[in-house]
Amino acid sequence: MFGNDPEYLMSEEEFRLLRDLVYNHCGMYFASEAKYLLEKRLSRRLAFHNLVSYKDYYHLLKYDLRKDQELSDLMDVLTTNETYFFREAFQLKAFTDEIIPEIMEEKGKRGDRTLRIWSAGCSTGEEPYTIAMLLLEMRRLDGWRLEVIGTDISQRVLQHARKGVYSKSSFRATENYYLDRYFHEHDGNFKISDKVRELVTISQLNLFDHNRLALLGRMDIIFCRNVIIYFDQPAKKKVIETFYQALYPGRFLLLGHSESLMNVTTLFTLRHLKNDMVYQKPWPVEGGAL
Ligand SMILES: C[S@@+](CC[C@H](N)C(=O)[O-])C[C@H]1O[C@@H](n2cnc3c(N)ncnc32)[C@H](O)[C@@H]1O
Repeated sequence: MFGNDPEYLMSEEEFRLLRDLVYNHCGMYFASEAKYLLEKRLSRRLAFHNLVSYKDYYHLLKYDLRKDQELSDLMDVLTTNETYFFREAFQLKAFTDEIIPEIMEEKGKRGDRTLRIWSAGCSTGEEPYTIAMLLLEMRRLDGWRLEVIGTDISQRVLQHARKGVYSKSSFRATENYYLDRYFHEHDGNFKISDKVRELVTISQLNLFDHNRLALLGRMDIIFCRNVIIYFDQPAKKKVIETFYQALYPGRFLLLGHSESLMNVTTLFTLRHLKNDMVYQKPWPVEGGAL
């Protein structure tokens, strides 16, 4: 083997089989140009199982008794998990200053004092914990039942999220105020405080697993930032339709700043708020079906 070459070579047929298997499982699409990427990342799994070819690995994923566990481990090596606290500040300002007050007003009128927020593709937890800290800062939410649900497909990142211990790189956009108030030092790193963790539930969920998605229940706000960039158009469409079903009418979908629903679906309305542009599930037309 030379230089950085993977230790195993993937044939075109093996590439197609594995690419389709990965795509059907999680929506991540590896185009032909990205064959080397799939080859490189999967080579670690072949080495781990002492397999000699990608075909053998494909058979393990398809037919072996260990296939569910292996699919989960495979997700750990394929996903990109970059994240940090307080990412995309003006969207968060729209969340606290415009979206939450609007929902509170509407729900308050009906005597409903619950808020359910989903961080879909939460990686190591910085996003749901950021949401929880922002909610804790809003005194007007005192007395409301708040629920932040963080989900991801990768068990490895979820373990990190559950531990809640973070190093400096997670705090590149965090004001000291939040560090002082919601973290304590832990072996040279920082651990999130219990009052933040109490608002957050962390669980594994594949955005393409419809049976499990149905158990989540209805949401007021869905954050799905920097996740659908890895999907092709049909996969994006499927996931966005899932979010549409999960949201109450009139509620909000917050995507990453490089992501849009243009050419994906017209299900959502683009709302121009003072601080940011966000997607909103339309209210039902009067007299129309819900
Ligand atoms: C780049 S991180 C984004 C983290 C966070 N939302 C943010 O914007 O900072 C993308 C996350 O999406 C997750 N992901 C990718 N495909 C997924 C799927 N099919 N179901 C659930 N999570 C998925 C990855 O495991 C990864 O942790």
